[in-house]
Amino acid sequence: MAEETRHPFLHGLSKHRGSPPTVIVIFGASGDLTARKLIPAIYNLGFDGLLPTDFHLIGFGRKPIPNAKFRKIAEGAIEEFSRRKLSKEVWARLAPRTTYMDGGYDDKKAFVELAKTIKELEKKTGQELQTLFYISTPPNVFAPIIKNLGASGLASRYLGKPHQSRVIIEKPFGRDLATAQALNKELTTVFAEDQVFRIDHYLGKETVQDLLVQRFANSIFEPIWNRNFIDHVQITVAEQVGVESRAGYYEQSGALRDMIQNHTMQLLALTAMEPPVSMDAESMRDEKVKVLKAIQPLKLDGPDPDFARAQYGDGVIDGKPVHGYLNEKDVAPQSGTETFAALRLSINNWRWQGVPFYLRSGKHMARRVSEIAIRFKQPPGNLFGASSGFQLASNTLAFQIQPDEGLSLILNAKIPGLETRTQPVKMNFKYATTFGSNTPEAYERLVLDAMIGDGTLFIRGDETERSWQLCTPLLEHWAKQGREGMDTYASGSWGPKAADKLLAGNGHTWREP
Ligand code: BG6
Repeated sequence: MAEETRHPFLHGLSKHRGSPPTVIVIFGASGDLTARKLIPAIYNLGFDGLLPTDFHLIGFGRKPIPNAKFRKIAEGAIEEFSRRKLSKEVWARLAPRTTYMDGGYDDKKAFVELAKTIKELEKKTGQELQTLFYISTPPNVFAPIIKNLGASGLASRYLGKPHQSRVIIEKPFGRDLATAQALNKELTTVFAEDQVFRIDHYLGKETVQDLLVQRFANSIFEPIWNRNFIDHVQITVAEQVGVESRAGYYEQSGALRDMIQNHTMQLLALTAMEPPVSMDAESMRDEKVKVLKAIQPLKLDGPDPDFARAQYGDGVIDGKPVHGYLNEKDVAPQSGTETFAALRLSINNWRWQGVPFYLRSGKHMARRVSEIAIRFKQPPGNLFGASSGFQLASNTLAFQIQPDEGLSLILNAKIPGLETRTQPVKMNFKYATTFGSNTPEAYERLVLDAMIGDGTLFIRGDETERSWQLCTPLLEHWAKQGREGMDTYASGSWGPKAADKLLAGNGHTWREP
């Protein structure tokens, strides 16, 4: 393996973060996520030497697929989607350990068969294997899979030991509070909470983890990280893509369920939480839950509600005309599904009282950009140029989650010259410049963490319920309203007017990152 292609950070990592011998079983093995993210993630872990020597991958799905064909599909997925080119050497090690089984998700016999296959692998290798189940299917089969993992004994293999069975469950984790509670109940009837890894891939992003490092490994932020210095916070998760071929899913979801309830809320929790006593899973998640609990219920009625929603209309993206959501394939002509949602949240605790947190996410927006922008208060009075009409910019610390990952700080500086005039300037830190650009993908980190049993970057049951508790009244409100009050925004813009109104009352405006 060429030494220079390895990320320097990973050299020390492999020594300390070894996983027990493991078999990963992917349910939904012929799905899109498996090809785009999971197989490439496992391959890259193999490339970095982070898979245990005794590693096996079993794809499980409804369609019968011969092993050889599944291996070809996996190889093709690596070629197409991996951040690194396919190394024949790494694949030669992984391919013989990759197999496929077909079976019905509600067929207990198929799970008993799976248990037998795993036992045979153990016999062959003379080792006890940890089983990590990855549920990457549509949500309507989550429950039968969980039930059958319980009924077949697969869920309780080596319970209480470091190599006990574990389960990763993909989103959507419910579609409102009641369904999330029901799913939690199904899961925890079969698995203990420390066996469950609810995924939110945003937590696996390098920049999202760096937010924690920036906050808690530097001493300059803590004294100013509160209502005395911060005016407001803007969290933007904008996408340029539209609904593409996913209308079947998206029509039942919408921006609030698809992005705000999970990814954007997680960014908020990490920004606003108190320092945890340690970085272990429970301490981290305790703090996230605490801050989510402090968020006030949304104001739904009256002239100035705490939300905006809209659908993209016709517009231009990358210089090309594109059509609106209602004209997309498989979208109902009178669809009430929002492709953009924005919220204004108040966090009722000592740190954040009176500091609005604005969240927005949408498809077909001007750019693909995710960022957390901390806007600081203006200095008391403008000594420089207020009389000549110069406005000082608000100091803004922006965490650029993606793309163009980095951190920037906007300051006011003097323009060189014989009079004192000011101009906002930007201090920039770019990941790519300092560390190079080939950093691990979110799923690599998360699959490795789950293999090791580290739940720090996964969502705990009470956390997801709390987040649904905040969003559910709004979802019900929208369901009642149908299309009434649905705004539109031009594709390729920064969103609807209603989202600007959300900030205007406080004299704020959205950044155009
Ligand atoms: C997924 C959503 O969770 O996140 C998609 O279902 C969205 O609709 C995607 O496109 C965005 O993820 P990323 O990592 O590309 O920002």
